[in-house]
Amino acid sequence: SSNDALVDIARVFRGTFVHSNENAPVEVLEDRILGIDTEGRIAFIGRAEEVGKLSQAWGFRISDVKHLGAHQFFMPGLVDTHIHASQYSYTGTALDMPLLQWLNTYTFPVEAKYKDLDFSQDVYTKVVKRTLKNGTTTACYFATIYTDSTLLLGEIADKYGQRALVGKVCMDVNKAVDCYKETADLSTDETNRFIGELLKRKYALVKPVVTPRFALSCTTKLLDHLGEIAKNNDLHIQSHISETKAEVNLVHELFPDYKSYTDVYLKHNLLTNKTVMAHACHLTDSELKLFRDTGASISHCPNSNISLCSGMLDVRRVLKHNVKLGLGTDVAGGYSPSMLDAIRRALDTSKALKIQDPEYKTLTFEEVFRLATLGGSQALSLDDRTGNFEVGKDFDAILVDPFAADGPIDMFPYENTKVILEKFLNLGDDRNIMEVYVAGRKAIPFQESV
Ligand code: GUN
Ligand code: FE
Repeated sequence: SSNDALVDIARVFRGTFVHSNENAPVEVLEDRILGIDTEGRIAFIGRAEEVGKLSQAWGFRISDVKHLGAHQFFMPGLVDTHIHASQYSYTGTALDMPLLQWLNTYTFPVEAKYKDLDFSQDVYTKVVKRTLKNGTTTACYFATIYTDSTLLLGEIADKYGQRALVGKVCMDVNKAVDCYKETADLSTDETNRFIGELLKRKYALVKPVVTPRFALSCTTKLLDHLGEIAKNNDLHIQSHISETKAEVNLVHELFPDYKSYTDVYLKHNLLTNKTVMAHACHLTDSELKLFRDTGASISHCPNSNISLCSGMLDVRRVLKHNVKLGLGTDVAGGYSPSMLDAIRRALDTSKALKIQDPEYKTLTFEEVFRLATLGGSQALSLDDRTGNFEVGKDFDAILVDPFAADGPIDMFPYENTKVILEKFLNLGDDRNIMEVYVAGRKAIPFQESV
């Protein structure tokens, strides 16, 4: 009964679709026909030989069906569950220190520059365009403590057609860079102003996310206020947890009344089914159980974890605990803004764990493909609207041309679609990403006139 004759069809594609579902990390759908309605949702997906029947039922002309080129395929858009838009200005540099020193030396002085709206506009435009070019259809962004600058990031994501959660960073503790912090009351007021203003603008794809930087940057008073704001408005929450052992030890020292790092967030209403916590490398089993019980999720940021020598997340263990998990670039702790890199580093980390323990069961490329798409979408609690090509979901997708002219991959005629997918994930780059759609609309960098 998907056949509602009054639905208008905006686009119809014919070709190969590759995605994940609950049963299979990779499902290859060959010679399919997929229709997108005028709201950007997937109206139907059927076999190509049914095109006559489908065109009658849905009222599109067969001559309007767009055929994918040979070997091209659609896959779901990549979901970056953790990226610092403000740190994009120094991505690819400054990875020679452990986390806490790195924050004090590089990160806080750079983030302080975003008081300047012209500077913000320049960097935020570049990061949104760059990530879209690399197939990121959804990004969960940290900005800075500055409300107006952070609103600009929301405006730019909306303008370029990227789905985004955008967070004004909250911090009222900063011993290293004194100018880069707020009082608890100002941070609370500005968070309320940020949320009110962003919601007032009614962007279709951009939502606010309550963003305490991490426990070490916040007083319990501020954590308390932010938990209240999130609870009273049913908002998303993001932060960092257990990225390095030094950080975990300091949290235990500074928050002696709490059972664990996770307990600090839990007790302040910051661990919910709309929470995503970055890193989580050093969680105990009982902390993972709290994630499972609350429905909070983890953003695995393997490039950052290796680049800052923070730790190696055991993804297999997280999945065994039934905790939701997605991948993140963590720009600029991670030096690459591309989710294809996050996929590769996640596989590398899994293999490094096997080098340490030959019994370890490494992740497969199929599993990591799911984490980068459906897993990320579920980790961000986006109401099951995205992540794969199920009828009724928004069409968030990238068109891959694995053998694009001047691209990085050579063709061998005996390879099947699944092998070609593996090659794209391991070897591909933005030269292979021909088009990017978010909610059925082609993102701005892929529109002809731009
Ligand atoms: N922990 C607190 N802030 C940050 C940050 O900006 N980057 C990373 N990687 N970890 C953090
Ligand atoms: Fe981070």
